[in-house]
Amino acid sequence: MFSMNSNWWKEAIIYQIYPRSFNDSNADGVGDLRGIINRLDYLQNLGVDVLWLSPCFASPNVDNGYDIADYEAIMPDFGTMTDFDELLAGAHERGMKLILDLVVNHSSDQHRWFQEARKSKDNPYRDYYIWKPANADGSPPNNWISFFSGPAWTFDAQTDAYYLHLFAKQQPDLNWENPALRQEIYKMMRFWLNKGVDGFRMDVIALLSKEPTFADYPEGQFGNLAYYANGPRIHEFLQEMHQEVLQHYNCLTVGEGFGVAAHQANLYVGQDRRELQMIYHFDHAVPRDEFRFLDPAPEFTLAELKGIFAQWNAALGNDGWQNIYFGNHDNPRVLSRFGNAAQYRYESAAMLATILLTQRGTPSLYQGDELGVANRHFTQVAQLDDVQVKNAYQNLKVAEQGLDEQFLAACNRIARDHARAPLPWQDAPNAIYDYYRQLIQLRKTSNALTLGHCVDLDLNNNEVWAYTRQSESEQWLVVCNFTAQRQVFELPPHLHTEKSVWRMGNYAPVGLRPTIGLKPYEALVYQLFG
Ligand code: NOJ
Repeated sequence: MFSMNSNWWKEAIIYQIYPRSFNDSNADGVGDLRGIINRLDYLQNLGVDVLWLSPCFASPNVDNGYDIADYEAIMPDFGTMTDFDELLAGAHERGMKLILDLVVNHSSDQHRWFQEARKSKDNPYRDYYIWKPANADGSPPNNWISFFSGPAWTFDAQTDAYYLHLFAKQQPDLNWENPALRQEIYKMMRFWLNKGVDGFRMDVIALLSKEPTFADYPEGQFGNLAYYANGPRIHEFLQEMHQEVLQHYNCLTVGEGFGVAAHQANLYVGQDRRELQMIYHFDHAVPRDEFRFLDPAPEFTLAELKGIFAQWNAALGNDGWQNIYFGNHDNPRVLSRFGNAAQYRYESAAMLATILLTQRGTPSLYQGDELGVANRHFTQVAQLDDVQVKNAYQNLKVAEQGLDEQFLAACNRIARDHARAPLPWQDAPNAIYDYYRQLIQLRKTSNALTLGHCVDLDLNNNEVWAYTRQSESEQWLVVCNFTAQRQVFELPPHLHTEKSVWRMGNYAPVGLRPTIGLKPYEALVYQLFG
């Protein structure tokens, strides 16, 4: 569909599928590839261009597939390679592309490489991972902590050494310093690309190159992500990956920019860098450091959220490109964060859709947002399944301290489980889905809405998000009420015009006036002329 245009990925709309909970075709309680195949028409009809599958590879599922035991095998719970081939062909037949999750900062401890590596110090796979001797007192080599609680090192008695895991102890970090490991990864990437897969979303890509001295955190920086991310060889590794693999395919690449700040982004995605096409940041993600499970951060205000978008647009400029999102499998539902599922489900879900699909960047929709799915309500800790939650519960000694209620309240705000519940499929017409569909069609008609500049009209306004999108030939105006109250927005004089057309909204069409009255969560999209 986009093959004539080398920048097709800038105009694409990505839809993220978390296979475990997307659609369960055989009623065994686990979503599967057949379930996705059965919904391909639904996805095509929605109008999305690229399907991103969260990991669908063989895995013991300590971290729901982000712990991969065999990169070239399909998870039996999800189906077979034949099912995968059918899914890929089915997506292609419908004009959609399919990208996979490339999780190569770490593997599962059940991966053959790690099973070999842990056998002996001279095993040929030993150096595929990061091993260090214990300190004289038996303690870990340094004070680094895992993102999933506790030390980032686990002792393996068999060879009397610690191995590094920035995530769970069942997710040992791969040693990218080792050229043989890198070649194995490139070979695996070619395996999928040669099958016809259209690219990769790259898990925690900024973590591949490690801080080389393995020293303790500097004073005052305990637990600071910046200390591990963007290591000294990261760009060399990504340029090598590009040269060895990516440049030979017309594929899409999006890096998960965990630890990448706005000013660093163009080092990954600048046009001449020959690394990645786009990156997505964590600046508006829900903070989930371990202590947040007892003390969650307040939600971002609208002004803060706008500031983050503006900062990234400015940092990328005309050089790099980003992937934008409001929700994914690592965040609670956007409807529960910024919308109002109880009173204004349709209005607020549609308003959030409007922003995501009219901001600058390649949007990723998260499965179920088009169905108006909100957070769950957990009443017991045992209902949560995420490894991060379980580890935090133990490490923080929640039960021992009698803090279950406080912990549960935090989980009801920040846990990843919210986004991982099975989708509530229903065959009845769905107004939110229809809204998404129309908005996607609209976006595709306009070069300003895809590639144009984005100018925020009132960065400090905490109730209304208003901005223009502009290309050489078009100008659009988006005005959204982020609240459940009526709001008034005064249009700046330079945008007063006799000639405007209402193009989209979640209430009845209304002409553009210099003073815009907005109903609860109202979204308005106008095209301006003259
Ligand atoms: C980021 C993924 O999105 C998340 O789900 C996972 O737990 C970590 N990386 C570790 O792979």
